[in-house]
Amino acid sequence: MKAAIQAVEFNHQVQQLLAACDLPTEDLLLPVTARRLFGCQLDGRLAGLVGVEIHGPDALLRSLAVADSARGKALGAALLAYAEQYAAAQGVQTIYLLTTTAETFFAQRGYSLAQRVAAPAAIAATQQFSGLCPAAAAFMLKRLNQPAG
Ligand SMILES: CC(C)(COP(=O)(O)OP(=O)(O)OC[C@H]1O[C@@H](n2cnc3c(N)ncnc32)[C@H](O)[C@@H]1OP(=O)(O)O)[C@@H](O)C(=O)NCCC(=O)NCCS
Repeated sequence: MKAAIQAVEFNHQVQQLLAACDLPTEDLLLPVTARRLFGCQLDGRLAGLVGVEIHGPDALLRSLAVADSARGKALGAALLAYAEQYAAAQGVQTIYLLTTTAETFFAQRGYSLAQRVAAPAAIAATQQFSGLCPAAAAFMLKRLNQPAG
């Protein structure tokens, strides 16, 4: 399955998809200058979403969600790779995330567990980190390869 991934704004479909996946939406209403959402449509509906919030050399990956009916077709992996490439192009060196549901998915894609106390201040200050994700959520990171030149 090949679906075009493009920038999307926070809207009702985004809200619905994230809610269906039990992922937080409340902080998406808050302005974060360097937050971008990317999504893809299938049959005219938002089928997948990923978000990235950039804080200098660090980024928070969030809101990775694929609709139930579209799962298992490599959409999640494609969205993750897209967000990583976008972040790397912005000069991000390390991506961080919190997850209660998909630790193995991320571990298979190069993410490793990290100590929350080691989080950079800007990542620790995000709503996801400081309140929205439960303390039991796995905190993971991946170092990105910087483009040559
Ligand atoms: C995690 C998620 C994005 C994966 O989307 P997807 O499009 O089904 O994933 P892909 O098709 O690219 O990859 C499927 C592979 O990942 C594995 N996988 C999917 N979800 C997984 C999960 N939650 N935990 C572990 N492995 C998972 C599948 O078993 C499959 O493995 P295989 O390639 O060895 O067969 C999707 O299940 C989802 O939206 N989950 C709910 C929201 C969530 O947990 N988001 C992550 C936290 S931000």
